[in-house]
Amino acid sequence: MKGPTILVADDDSSVRLVISQTLAQEGYHVRATNSVATLWKWIQSGEGDLLITDVYMPDKSIFDVMGDIRHERPELPIIVISGQSTVLTATMASDHGVYDYLPKPFDIDNLSDAVKRALQKRTVKGVAPSSRKAEKDEALPLIGRSTPMQNVYRVIARVMNTDLTVLIEGESGTGKDLCAKAIHDLGKRKDGPFVAVSLAALQKEQVEADLFGVSTESGVGKTGRVEEADGGTLYLDEVGDMPIEAQTRLLRFLQDGKFSPFGGGDVRQSDVRIIASTKHDLQTLVDQGGFREDLYYRLNVVSLKLPPLVDRKEDILELASAFLVRARREGLPEKQLDKSAFDLLSAYDWPGNVRELENLIRRVAALSPEPVITAREIEREMRPVAKKEQSAGEFEAEVEALLSRHFLARLSAIDGADGEIYSSVIEQVERPLIKLALAATRGNKVRAASILGLNRNTLRSKINGLRLSDTE
Ligand SMILES: Nc1ncnc2c1ncn2[C@@H]1O[C@H](COP(=O)(O)OP(=O)(O)O)[C@@H](O)[C@H]1O
Ligand SMILES: [Mg+2]
Repeated sequence: MKGPTILVADDDSSVRLVISQTLAQEGYHVRATNSVATLWKWIQSGEGDLLITDVYMPDKSIFDVMGDIRHERPELPIIVISGQSTVLTATMASDHGVYDYLPKPFDIDNLSDAVKRALQKRTVKGVAPSSRKAEKDEALPLIGRSTPMQNVYRVIARVMNTDLTVLIEGESGTGKDLCAKAIHDLGKRKDGPFVAVSLAALQKEQVEADLFGVSTESGVGKTGRVEEADGGTLYLDEVGDMPIEAQTRLLRFLQDGKFSPFGGGDVRQSDVRIIASTKHDLQTLVDQGGFREDLYYRLNVVSLKLPPLVDRKEDILELASAFLVRARREGLPEKQLDKSAFDLLSAYDWPGNVRELENLIRRVAALSPEPVITAREIEREMRPVAKKEQSAGEFEAEVEALLSRHFLARLSAIDGADGEIYSSVIEQVERPLIKLALAATRGNKVRAASILGLNRNTLRSKINGLRLSDTE
């Protein structure tokens, strides 16, 4: 006897092949198509015990018929696989009670596990075909389709309709605040308050009062943020900065949802979903005794790790373009980036992550008079490297990064070969060096030459060539 029948819809024939072969080996009967219309016929005629489907097919998007499929076959488990993974796809999948959601490229073993689990359970969540229409792409809160971001969307999709506590980890500017808000806005608490507490910005002594409120003798105290967030989400930004006493109080609250205001008072209750974020490694803080281990485990129920931008450079173009569109909507003139600008943006490592990219694009959009932005304009707005104490190696790396950016801008800005780059770049390096050497020796060329390790006549001719007058 044949095993269960799996319907597969995907526009990519190699994906259909891989899935079909793997599942056939596992004893399933597989029917595959690249057309939503064909799939719909199968569904209507009652075929299939499970559906694995891509989102965009040549004829239609699966979400165009998802409501109908759900209506016709409410019991049919559905696994969505998508290369166009965005929060939107994940949300739609979740709205339609999709059993599982795998971003492409997916691991075939994961898929096969998901199939097994789905067939065992056959539990379909309350079917409520959503009337929510696909919003415009630019309305999406999170931008980027790289594999690391797809994993992020996957976690968001899994947790958004739960009350699970999420710990978001990532460098500064990677989008932790944005993700926290997205989880709230897409989830079942979206009509409740989203209360963000920035622990890095609070004085240590203020934290407990701010979170839990203050009671006074007359009974009218100040309401804390925990209470403000009742029915919604409490976002603890930079939770690693929380003082130990406040950690203890928070832990007690997390255990039973009860708390009393700072300074004593009646026991109160608040129903909040907690999302915490940190740019530090909390585990290290725990090891060093700066963070309660039990609280760490309470918070780290679901871990969401945001990748630094340098690990997902393929998202840079999409982000930069979206920020330009945003700048235009904020009233700045319409601008476009040319190829040289994109090359330069992709070559840089973005230590400040998306925030740095966003600020850069905003500055360029505001300051550059040209409608087409080239590497030159980008280069001009790239922040000068912050001054800090650094080792020789760091200095060299920084100088090299700075110069590379500059050279790339120059190289991509030339129309034809002007044959002058080499000499002009050397000049740019020589000029400040010789000027400083002359300044340090009060214009004594003999001493300057010896400091620089140059022949006296060579120095003299360079000074003439660079048109550095003796008095400079
Ligand atoms: N994936 C993303 N798509 C669009 N904008 C982003 C993304 N990640 C971050 N940003 C933007 O970058 C800035 C910094 O994000 P934020 O969430 O405050 O970072 P963090 O909290 O990690 O420091 C914000 O203006 C945010 O809108
Ligand atoms: Mg933040």
